[in-house]
Amino acid sequence: HRTAAVIPAAGRGLRLGPGAPKALRALSGTPMLVHAVRAMTRSRSVSLVVVVAPPDGADEVRRLLDEHTAPSETSDVLVVPGGETRQDSVRLGLAALPDDVDSVLVHDAARPLVPVETVDAVAAAVREGAPAVVPALPVADTVKEVRVRDDGGPEPVTGTPERSRLRAVQTPQGFELKVLAAAHAQVAREGDGATDDAGMVERLGVEVVVVPGHDEAFKVTRPLDLVLAEAVLARRRA
Ligand code: CTP
Ligand code: MG
Repeated sequence: HRTAAVIPAAGRGLRLGPGAPKALRALSGTPMLVHAVRAMTRSRSVSLVVVVAPPDGADEVRRLLDEHTAPSETSDVLVVPGGETRQDSVRLGLAALPDDVDSVLVHDAARPLVPVETVDAVAAAVREGAPAVVPALPVADTVKEVRVRDDGGPEPVTGTPERSRLRAVQTPQGFELKVLAAAHAQVAREGDGATDDAGMVERLGVEVVVVPGHDEAFKVTRPLDLVLAEAVLARRRA
């Protein structure tokens, strides 16, 4: 049994504001991507990591990884160029996996601080037979569904799902490789989007299960998230 991790890191990070691609920005002096790679290589269940770099940034990413990590840490880290959407980037990462890989963790570079325990729990659930596994947490906010308006006017609320049944999902999401590859192939054929990999697998009719997520696996999306990430790293050093 061999598990690989694919790290989509090809996004621009528009919501974080102007600057370098999000995955290359520093968190306490180290690129976010390097934190994310370490989170994967630290897990004993992961034997290979494929980093999906910005389309024109593969060389720079390779250099950053070599500069910030010991050779032993990166010996099994491949870097491939990504695509226009996250989905394209994940598909390109999956295409780079060798034949002997049979399960895969897909982990956003934008979740640099996921604890190794969470990575291990997802990998273990896949190894024990679940075809698709997502780490998730209960949601704190009440969530409303609205009729989206593009003219800036007030959006009418159309419903309030029962909060106790909602989960906010994180990464790494773990899959039997052939299940995720089939899901990506179907989406590529039919051309419709999904905001996470598990969502695509659900459309195949394959059951996805949830394991406990972790507060520190939050996604760095907006500027305030950088403040939280720096604080988490400072607490770890203390
Ligand atoms: N991603 C990717 N390829 C893309 C778009 C996104 O590999 N074409 C990756 C990002 O690098 C990130 C993860 O998917 O690690 C989650 O995406 P998100 O948080 O939305 O990051 P960005 O797309 O970079 O940010 P934004 O949407 O604010 O531009
Ligand atoms: Mg995005």
